[in-house]
Amino acid sequence: MRRPLPWITAFALLLGAFLIPHSAYAAQTLDSLAKAKGRYFGSATDNPELSDTAYTSILGSEFSSITPGNSMKWDTTEPTQGGFNFSNGDAVVAFAKAHGQMVRAHTLVWHNQLPSWVANGSWTADTLNAALKNHITTEVGHYAGQVYSWDVVNEPFNDDGTYRTDVWYNTLGTSYIANALTWAHAADPNAKLYINDYNIDGSGAKADAMYTLAKSLKAAGVPLDGIGFQGHLATQYGFPSGMQANLQRFADLGLDVAITELDVRMVLPSDATKVATQNTYYTNVVNACLAVSRCVGITVWDYTDKYSWVPGTFSGEGDATLYDANLVPKADYDAVVAALGGTTSSPSPTTSPTGSTSCKVAYTANDWGSGFTATITITDNGPPLTAWTLGYGYAGNQTLTTGWSGNWSQSGKNITVTNASWNGVIPTGGSVSIGANFSYSGTNTAPGAFTLNGSPCS
Ligand code: G3I
Repeated sequence: MRRPLPWITAFALLLGAFLIPHSAYAAQTLDSLAKAKGRYFGSATDNPELSDTAYTSILGSEFSSITPGNSMKWDTTEPTQGGFNFSNGDAVVAFAKAHGQMVRAHTLVWHNQLPSWVANGSWTADTLNAALKNHITTEVGHYAGQVYSWDVVNEPFNDDGTYRTDVWYNTLGTSYIANALTWAHAADPNAKLYINDYNIDGSGAKADAMYTLAKSLKAAGVPLDGIGFQGHLATQYGFPSGMQANLQRFADLGLDVAITELDVRMVLPSDATKVATQNTYYTNVVNACLAVSRCVGITVWDYTDKYSWVPGTFSGEGDATLYDANLVPKADYDAVVAALGGTTSSPSPTTSPTGSTSCKVAYTANDWGSGFTATITITDNGPPLTAWTLGYGYAGNQTLTTGWSGNWSQSGKNITVTNASWNGVIPTGGSVSIGANFSYSGTNTAPGAFTLNGSPCS
């Protein structure tokens, strides 16, 4: 009997073989938009989060792929030598199967999250090689046919491009990298095998070191399929220079490239400038990936601020992900949707007007937690008006209940107000005040951009 195609292989073939038209999908999601571009859009996740049903409903519907943040790392899977435990990783794989998702498996050889028997063992090259081979053969064998790819080697370089002096390098030199890839390939010949690192997204010494390594591994016929660019960005450090060209030079070696751990953190508190920068960075990353045909997909390092690793590692920083801590999509989500060619119901954050002098809008909200009264004062600094239409958008789920001093309507996240019969005339320098009540849940962020008769206001 012919063996059925493993589900993951079928998915990968579907992804790689042709572009799926967006109209084929009932609803626009990051998954459907990315697939329409021949890519996947994934998220990291972790076992404790899988019991949060509000979280898993988005994880299961918006994303094409998931990556276990911790549960396939060595300290979890082989805490004692030869004592393997795959229960947490199995739970992540089961979630992916139940939701038709790929798994980017992470990670086999890393300096971090090693059990002490590995990190502090008394090794010779032979005994460490044997332990490494057994770990890789057992873990990759366990998941063979169930995962799309493996981050086989994680973070082998220091930021200056020298090799990280961890137990692997100190005991084995650089040989562990080719060996790990070779052993992983033997255990699952269909899995795409990656080396993954941070601060290699743009040009620089560390990216050059990875390029030299990748080139030499390919030349030696080592089974390396791709390079993972983690993409842990921060608004205060600028966008990586030459990201698209950097991805392209690795692709030109005959490798897949992928953004594997994207997030864009900021120093808190957030403000409009930082959010605009963050939106631009998310847009730039998507654009860079779409511009490189061998960039196969993007994974965010969890999709919500509720479960982001950032605040626990970088004190005073956060707000790094696509959804806020209440699981409400942020402007970053809209930025990604727009870059993937989708439609956004709120004004595109990347095209937000910088303001003009022809009109000015003052907005205040009297908020009682589940609702608020918005008071808006429009000042006409241009020619006199005889009729006006005000437009703006909310980022969250704010819902209009009643408005006054104008004709209020809502379409998705967009609010439109036309003048009442008695306040259409605004002389130059004159003002009109209007108001409305809204209900909401989650975060009530003030709108950032207004238009009057189609022109942006300051
Ligand atoms: O499981 C223990 C728990 O028993 C204990 O009570 C608790 C106390 O701190 O710690 C828990 O372990 C934490 C583990 O996550 C699971 O939640 C560790 O302290 C914590 O350090 C660990 O952080 C992980 C980090 O890697 C470790 O380096 C993050 O969740 C994970 O998202 C992060 O992922 C890495 C990628 O693997 C590689 N690239 C960078 C990325 C971000 O650091």
